[in-house]
Amino acid sequence: MCGIVGYVGGQNAAPLLVEALGRLEHRGYDSAGVAVVGSQVRVTKRAGRVRDLAEVLPKRMSGRVGIGHTRWATHGPATDANAHPHTDESGAVAVVHNGIIDNAAALRARLVDQGVPLASDTDTEVFAHLVARSDADTLEGKVVDALDAVEGTYGLAVVHADFPDRVVVARNGSPLLVGVGDKEMFVASDLAALVRHTTTVAHLADGELATVTASGFTTFRRDLTRTQTTAREVDVDPSAYEHGLVDGRPRMYTEMLEQPASVERALRGRLDERFATAHLGGLEMDARELRAVRRVKILGCGSAYYVGQMGASLIEELARVPADAEPASEFRYRSPVIEPDTLYVAVSQSGETIDTLLAVEEIRRKGGRVIGLVNVVGSAIARACDGGIYLHAGPEIAVASTKALTTMFVGFALLALQLGRVRDLSVADGRRLVAGLQDLPAQIEQVLEGEERIAQAAKALAAAESLFFVGRVRGYPVAREGAQKFKEISYRHAEAYQMSELKHGPLALISPEVPTVAIVPDDELTDRNVAALHEIAARGGPLVVVTHPDVDLGELRAERIDVPRNERELDPLLLTVPLQLLAYHAALTLGHDVDKPRNLAKSVTVE
Ligand code: AGP
Repeated sequence: MCGIVGYVGGQNAAPLLVEALGRLEHRGYDSAGVAVVGSQVRVTKRAGRVRDLAEVLPKRMSGRVGIGHTRWATHGPATDANAHPHTDESGAVAVVHNGIIDNAAALRARLVDQGVPLASDTDTEVFAHLVARSDADTLEGKVVDALDAVEGTYGLAVVHADFPDRVVVARNGSPLLVGVGDKEMFVASDLAALVRHTTTVAHLADGELATVTASGFTTFRRDLTRTQTTAREVDVDPSAYEHGLVDGRPRMYTEMLEQPASVERALRGRLDERFATAHLGGLEMDARELRAVRRVKILGCGSAYYVGQMGASLIEELARVPADAEPASEFRYRSPVIEPDTLYVAVSQSGETIDTLLAVEEIRRKGGRVIGLVNVVGSAIARACDGGIYLHAGPEIAVASTKALTTMFVGFALLALQLGRVRDLSVADGRRLVAGLQDLPAQIEQVLEGEERIAQAAKALAAAESLFFVGRVRGYPVAREGAQKFKEISYRHAEAYQMSELKHGPLALISPEVPTVAIVPDDELTDRNVAALHEIAARGGPLVVVTHPDVDLGELRAERIDVPRNERELDPLLLTVPLQLLAYHAALTLGHDVDKPRNLAKSVTVE
């Protein structure tokens, strides 16, 4: 979703800002703009892509201080006028903003009453007018005055013609980083925009502001007292943040191929063969505390929620603790009972998803303990949790999540193993799971080697307007994630169902035009699953069956995709991988932009 960049230093700001905005494209956006402080503040903004903005950037838009933005429309459609930066009517102040100002309607009405002309439909514009109307002597004071009037979430950056040496930034619920260069400083809402210039960064905390000049930055609170936030070197490989095709392939493809390596990283140093358990130091929970857990509640959104369902099964099976997953976006609104002996687990690749973050904050406000399974180090959710597990998937750029999801599964398996081993899970079962986890990277590799066959099956599926993805028990969240991936990038209607529920309604939809992708692991339900497949086939429904080599499908007419067996508890991960390839090849067949699916954003930072 929306992205912020900023620059203060010796270089011409405009092209540098536009280049940095290009590095936020994967987040999803519909317009872009920059403001540069020279003798005055000059703004160029456009609905459309960053390249459209680059084309209309005036040649002589010079200035060494500036801010930029990619907008994902919330208040008002994607138009030039609604694009950020927004200015006051004199044009002295320019603001870029991520998040939502909740009381914008009241503030807009008040400004209109005062005769202030509003140039856009946005909530952000009011902020520029409020800064311009403050009579504080400093830009910091003006920004604080404006913040006192607004309610909501924000990451924002402000420039002012009267204070041409600085950018003032503020954070409340939307991430903001300050990057330290050599006599130049950077601002961004996402590390991806900075890594080409610097890997020395400071993460602002909620409620914090910063003044950024070419020589450094200072941080402070709304009462203007100083805070001690410092920059530190982050251990990242800048090339991992590159966008666009890699060897002619979309990022989603390279990210799928990275899974053996990312799963290996997620496991590294966390398995204890001697005691047949896992060690997750980041949980900050000793064995006594782990034993006191009576229930586990997992919260995430979209695919993170589906992997959360896989995680809940793992925890129930291995630790024998009741566990379930719920969409974080719903949880907060049903006034949930927060129990002291429940372990809450927030799962998120980006660590920015606002629904998940707000759920974490709600639980903590009510005294609950939350741990995070998060990929992005230092992200809002990681910081808001009591402890957690970093996924180590590496930067994930494609909107359709793949390698982050498989490392989430590994995170849940490790958690289940550690929880289980302080309770009733036997040494023998612990060893079985440790060995199974160690086998995963090579087995994922094997699944990926079957790409050719999966691509053939995908071509046939791409022709269908509507599909079912079905599975049971452990296979059901796999089916849900498979359907999610398929609809995200192929734009086909893909519906997940429990195979056992087909007869209770959806079987009526089965026909030669509606294919079914079935998840049929070799487990206690195989016979029943195969019987259900025959019922689908008898009604002319085309079938793709993702299964294990030993499963006998009899005379069934079906496209078969075999994945290697692991321990039954870990099978969902290997069953998920071919469904990623299926969605990817269907999207390629249909000629879609795999990495930037329509209407979707990589990080969903507004409710
Ligand atoms: C996954 O392919 C989706 N793009 C989406 O459902 C995603 O998993 C969800 O928005 C949660 O994101 P997060 O993991 O960054 O919190």
